[in-house]
Amino acid sequence: MSVPEVKYTQIFINNEWANSVSGKTFGTINPTTGETICDVQEGDKADIDLAVKAAKDAFKIGSPWRRMDASQRGRLLNKLADLVDRDADYLASLETLDNGLLYHTMSRPFTGWSANMLRYLAGWSDKIHGKTIPIDGDYFCYTRREPIGVVGAIIPWNTPIILTLIRLGNALTCGNTLVLKPAEQTPLTALYLASLVKEAGFPPGVVNVVPGYGPTAGAAISEHMDVDMVSFTGSTEVGRIIQQSSAKSNLKKVILEMGGKSPNIIFADADLESAVEWSHVGLFTNSGQVCIAGSRTFVQEEIYDEFVKRSVERARKRSIGDPYDPNIQGGPQIEQVQVDKIMDLIESGKKEGAKLECGGGRHGDKGYFVESTVFSDVKDHMRIAKEEIFGPVQSIFKFKTIDEVVERANNTSYGLGAAVFTNDINKALTIANTIQAGYVWVNVYAAFAMQAPFGGYKQSGIGREGGEDGLDEYCEIKTVIVKIPEKNS
Ligand code: NAI
Ligand code: MG
Repeated sequence: MSVPEVKYTQIFINNEWANSVSGKTFGTINPTTGETICDVQEGDKADIDLAVKAAKDAFKIGSPWRRMDASQRGRLLNKLADLVDRDADYLASLETLDNGLLYHTMSRPFTGWSANMLRYLAGWSDKIHGKTIPIDGDYFCYTRREPIGVVGAIIPWNTPIILTLIRLGNALTCGNTLVLKPAEQTPLTALYLASLVKEAGFPPGVVNVVPGYGPTAGAAISEHMDVDMVSFTGSTEVGRIIQQSSAKSNLKKVILEMGGKSPNIIFADADLESAVEWSHVGLFTNSGQVCIAGSRTFVQEEIYDEFVKRSVERARKRSIGDPYDPNIQGGPQIEQVQVDKIMDLIESGKKEGAKLECGGGRHGDKGYFVESTVFSDVKDHMRIAKEEIFGPVQSIFKFKTIDEVVERANNTSYGLGAAVFTNDINKALTIANTIQAGYVWVNVYAAFAMQAPFGGYKQSGIGREGGEDGLDEYCEIKTVIVKIPEKNS
């Protein structure tokens, strides 16, 4: 796989490419080498204002987008899905360049998955319907599910194509318009996707993409009086700022998908080999840069030592290196800041008395690689037990009873994912029912489906994306009551 040529680096507003109002640009870096790939136009408030105006105009009553049949919206989304498939090799390669995601096992399959997700959502376009409700009295009552208006999407860097297209697909299926800010670390694939939006034939202003930084461009979206909803994925810290910006501006609807410290519970009766493998995959996938990473592995005491031994063997076997190489299992972290954060947490784990079984250092002398790291004897009070590491660091805890593990697993401000490995249906269902998390897996980790809702309990999130429930978030519900002459009712 050769390194792709970058085709789009400007701001996309009204189906046109433009430089930033300020004239500023910023470099985007290849995390595999640490070298700058290219400069990208840096949007800030002035550019967001232009993008929001375009999105607001495109949403006006009587506009081509508002007058378009819902089924035609679906056809455009299907067209976009076809274009994503047509260019999937290129898109995936660009994602690997900008982000470091493994090409063969991640960015390429994720791109195909994203096209299918668009098709799933496209099918909903003319099925977003209300109800007729038999209310008391001589009335005809019905509801309409209407688009909310201008949706602002603030995207993180960890899986940019999927996260861009899920926002775009949800917003557009329901008839909204969109202003999207990709993460400053990974702007390139969102810009290429914008070119496909234009090619698919969406009217100008329906989708606008403004690359830029969080505190400038991102904040301009969340503070904007004409943005009607914000959908955000990223850190809990920034999610909190976005909620506050909404409260201080126009009380726009906010949905948030934030971090996690997801418990992964292994009972002594589980199939050990499978549990070790899924626990490894559930943590080390994308070098730990996954919101639902199984970052607290709780193992029942009878099998604890054996589980740790096998997990360490497995982690030692994980090959790290060039993300375009099909034999490599682990790519780089996204940036130096993240490496520093991970190394600081590894140091804290050692200092606080966890046992470093393997890894613990930087890998190589180029790019942002961290060794596959496993800690055993991790205690609940340690920083590595409480803080989101977002790196290739597996923490293994010991537990005795189911009641104990439920309480400890829930003793966190997060609530995104959880898994249980057992061959006892009663234990599986007890965990599934009692863990406070938006997603629970039994004897598997991180299985996903576009048809099912995804989101977090507690400080992991507000709202859902995916499936019918995800689409509901992008709609207002209007109730209409019509008086009927008494004798006809
Ligand atoms: P972040 O939350 O700062 O960035 C996510 C997005 O929010 C980016 O597009 C960024 O530009 C934007 N943003 C930042 N500040 C903003 C502001 N004041 N107003 C509006 N938008 C703003 O996340 P960051 O710094 O990249 O990563 C820090 C930590 O966050 C990670 O170590 C990880 O723990 C967590 N994280 C979680 C993700 C998830 O999937 N839930 C994704 C990325 C990060
Ligand atoms: Mg940041």
